[in-house]
Amino acid sequence: MKIKLLILLLSINLFASSYGELLFNGNCITCHSTNELNKSAPTIIEIQKIYKSSFPLKKDFIHYMSTWVLNPNKETSLMDDAIEKYKLMPMLGYDKETLEEISSYLYDLTN
Ligand code: HEC
Repeated sequence: MKIKLLILLLSINLFASSYGELLFNGNCITCHSTNELNKSAPTIIEIQKIYKSSFPLKKDFIHYMSTWVLNPNKETSLMDDAIEKYKLMPMLGYDKETLEEISSYLYDLTN
């Protein structure tokens, strides 16, 4: 019984992380590459670093990032320099749940 529950939890987890990855690759990677080659926006590694230093706990990280991406604005940006350099990120119109999924994937991303 316990083992079944464990397997169930593990597979939900696996599903969640690959779903977040899929969403990120489909919706964000055009501007945010995972390496330094891209110059139209900060790389996702730079963003992750800054967000993690402000929000070390995963739930805070997810909350802040998904709220910001839902409605990008200068007032609550953690990356003023990036706005100067690349201009404010456009509003994309995804729902909050989708953005939470992506933010969760980005928190766990390792390079
Ligand atoms: C059309 C290009 C574009 C797309 C698509 C895009 N972004 Fe961005 N994003 C930018 C630019 C440019 C910046 C840097 C300026 C800024 O911070 O507003 C940025 C900044 C950010 C930041 C830092 C915010 C801050 O200033 O604190 C986060 C987080 C972020 N993007 C997440 C995402 C996620 C998640 C997606 C996919 C759902 C995404 N972006 C899709 C262009 C884009």
